[in-house]
Amino acid sequence: MKITIMTLFKETMDPMLEYSIVGRAKKNNYIDIEAVDIRPFANNKHLQVDDYPYGGGAGMLMMPDPIYSCYQAIKKQSQAKTRRVIYMTPQGNVWNQQMAEEFSKEEELIILCGHYEGVDQRVIDEIVTDEVSIGDYVLTGGELAALVVADSIVRLIPGVLGKSESFEKESFSEGLLEYPQYTRPAVFLDRKVPDVLLSGNHKKIEDYRRWEAIRNTFHKRPDLLKDVQLTKEEQQLLTEYAKKHCKVKEGML
Ligand code: ADE
Repeated sequence: MKITIMTLFKETMDPMLEYSIVGRAKKNNYIDIEAVDIRPFANNKHLQVDDYPYGGGAGMLMMPDPIYSCYQAIKKQSQAKTRRVIYMTPQGNVWNQQMAEEFSKEEELIILCGHYEGVDQRVIDEIVTDEVSIGDYVLTGGELAALVVADSIVRLIPGVLGKSESFEKESFSEGLLEYPQYTRPAVFLDRKVPDVLLSGNHKKIEDYRRWEAIRNTFHKRPDLLKDVQLTKEEQQLLTEYAKKHCKVKEGML
């Protein structure tokens, strides 16, 4: 897969793309990922990339030509037969794990980072296939959001993480949050690691972890449970658990 991030702040992105798991994935050729500076594609002597909005209003808009020329240059260098162009904007679809999985199967992604008050609508209409937000808040630009999106995609590409196991059983992959994890020491500040994890009984450990994941999701993100396939026994156990733990306390109402 190739990911190209179009930005006015390439120098802030490069370090993030060189280090950690993303950097290693790039070095090991699992992924080709880079940030491209839009500014050199400006078609004026001062390399101006923003201008006042027609009709008035606050702030500056990113001009369409530099973005379009940058996009054309990226396309010209690419051998991909298909590509998706993501525009990072608070108006987009809110990013989630399912979207990360879908996009991780694409041949090529181009991510456009907006800045200032936004981007001229005509270039969005011309090149963008998907508008994506990382949450209902407004950032000063799309760069941090693009890194979030790219990171969540890159780690799903086969070979990028050490063992495929490491994301098979993690939060969201089965619609559940993760179970709590423990490492040494077995006792920390009088808090013991649950006995079952020291028992060596793999079936019991698996059952324990599954129930803890359900319980964790019930307490922290009950909204997710409607999309989880629970067995009949699990459903029953959860109903009893909920009855016990969701009593309305006296005086609450
Ligand atoms: N640009 C500014 N705010 C953003 C957000 N919440 N998500 C994606 N891109 C953005």
